[in-house]
Amino acid sequence: KGFFKRLQRITGYTSVAALATAAYFVYDANHPPEQLPPDPSKKTIVVLGSGWGSTALLDAIDTTDYNVVVISPHNYFLFTPLLPSVTVGTLNGRSITQPTRYMVRYKTREVQVVEAEATKVDVANKKVTFEDKSEIYGNLGTVEVPYDYLVYAVGSENQTFGIEGVKKYGNFLKELGDAEEVRRKLMDCVEKASLLGQSEEEIDRLLHFVVVGGGPTGVEASSEFRDFVRDDLSKWYPAVSGRVRVSLIEALPNILPMFSKNLVEFTENVFKENEIQILTKHMVKDVDEKSVTVQGPDGKIINIPMGMLVWAAGNTARPLTRDVQAQLKGKQTNRRGLLVDGHMRLVGAEDSIFALGDATATDLAPTAQVANQQGAYLASVFAQLSRADRVNSKLEEAKRFGAAPEEIARLERKLKKMLDISQFSFTSRGAMAYIGHENAIADLPWGSVQLSSGGVLTGVAWSSAYWSLLFGIRSRTSVALDWLKVRIFGRDLTV
Ligand code: FAD
Ligand code: NAI
Repeated sequence: KGFFKRLQRITGYTSVAALATAAYFVYDANHPPEQLPPDPSKKTIVVLGSGWGSTALLDAIDTTDYNVVVISPHNYFLFTPLLPSVTVGTLNGRSITQPTRYMVRYKTREVQVVEAEATKVDVANKKVTFEDKSEIYGNLGTVEVPYDYLVYAVGSENQTFGIEGVKKYGNFLKELGDAEEVRRKLMDCVEKASLLGQSEEEIDRLLHFVVVGGGPTGVEASSEFRDFVRDDLSKWYPAVSGRVRVSLIEALPNILPMFSKNLVEFTENVFKENEIQILTKHMVKDVDEKSVTVQGPDGKIINIPMGMLVWAAGNTARPLTRDVQAQLKGKQTNRRGLLVDGHMRLVGAEDSIFALGDATATDLAPTAQVANQQGAYLASVFAQLSRADRVNSKLEEAKRFGAAPEEIARLERKLKKMLDISQFSFTSRGAMAYIGHENAIADLPWGSVQLSSGGVLTGVAWSSAYWSLLFGIRSRTSVALDWLKVRIFGRDLTV
């Protein structure tokens, strides 16, 4: 009896605490605090991009000592690991975004958010030019923003190897609009295949979804397509769902080269069960409106009819990045991206530009994990630089007013110590990927060894891990509700 009474009391206290916490979050989310205005006497940091690297920086940076300006064509952060789920409507695209303003509104000093594309970085004169390309009519034209420090985190663009048809007829999977376009096109293909009076050949073509690139993006996209066919199309489009085919084309002998061999085999088996065709050692040479031209392992060229093509064949540097490289000729020599030193300073512009994430060419893979850690590291660098600036001002003052040589020497030692900033070091948290039918694979570091696992339990770990990594309670709630909605009602079928 005593035990139950105690349990009742604990539960009561816990519920009150949970309700109070929830009320606090709701209040806090709706009552952003007063902020300090921009201060012309402080240094200005211009941040290019609102992706993984920039967002981690903005999340951790102390704006007391800086004016911060963020320039990005998107006024939000996109949680890319769950982007493939948007292609079939498992998740609503807006659920995995976080408006940049939500985050910066809680900073000590006001942060300017500019929704525009940076079109030029003038490395020598420390200026960024941006252009308002919004559809809304305006006469802003181009605007120049001077900076003391530039954080260059514009990511990368899709590598197409000069195949013209990719951009014209294929779909990418990098941005929110890409995933939404894939969903629309996929449903359009299914509806078109369901129209009466089509030839058998045309129906088969429309229902063939081809994914190019056996990296994690391509594998996750094909898996989502197949889930959609099994869970939803089979119920609502019984006449055509059995004819849907999903093919994954990869130039190398294996898919997922970054995962352990046993997980690659596991994925191949799951794909076989889920009827996803894997064509390794097949290199895509051309893409047109209705087919993809591929060179097989024997050198023979084959033409594969398809209704929709998703191109996930890797990254390349953006034109803006190439322009920065051109301004630092002889110092920026890597075609993959920008070269940086151990402190993420741009080689050739070490005093003013930091670059991070997919825009750089380092020994690390271009992943969210890397960009995220680099962004957080840069915030700590800026904190140390502002402390060093304060010591430097004291030092100059001491010199100006003829302070004792011991005091000047002490301040000089202090400044030197402050500028001795440790280099960036990456801690791998492993790799995970969704492979369909509730399965996922994971290579996780465990001390000095690596644990590999695959299956439905890993699938649960995959969804829990990414759910907990989402930025903010709003996103977590939206994603949880989307998952619940799909469990109860299935995925949305509207075109
Ligand atoms: P991004 O996050 O790409 O951000 C670049 C930002 O720059 C964007 O806000 C963009 O709008 C902006 N920008 C572009 N051009 C300009 C311009 N001219 N001026 C100003 N701003 C500009 N990695 C993982 O570790 N785990 C995963 O599970 C994972 N899943 C992924 C799934 C998909 C579908 C994709 C595409 C990638 C995935 N990645 C994953 C990789 C990860 O998303 C990238 O490595 C990461 O986004 C890189 O961060 P970034 O800040 O360098 O660039
Ligand atoms: P990727 O570079 O990892 O893979 C692209 C693949 O396309 C390569 O295997 C390449 O051989 C193949 N390819 C290129 N051209 C081809 C052609 N013409 N024909 C056929 N195949 C061709 O690209 P991806 O998957 O977009 O990943 C980019 C980065 O993002 C990687 O670092 C990856 O680790 C990371 N990422 C991580 C995820 C995760 O951890 N779950 C999910 C998605 C991306």
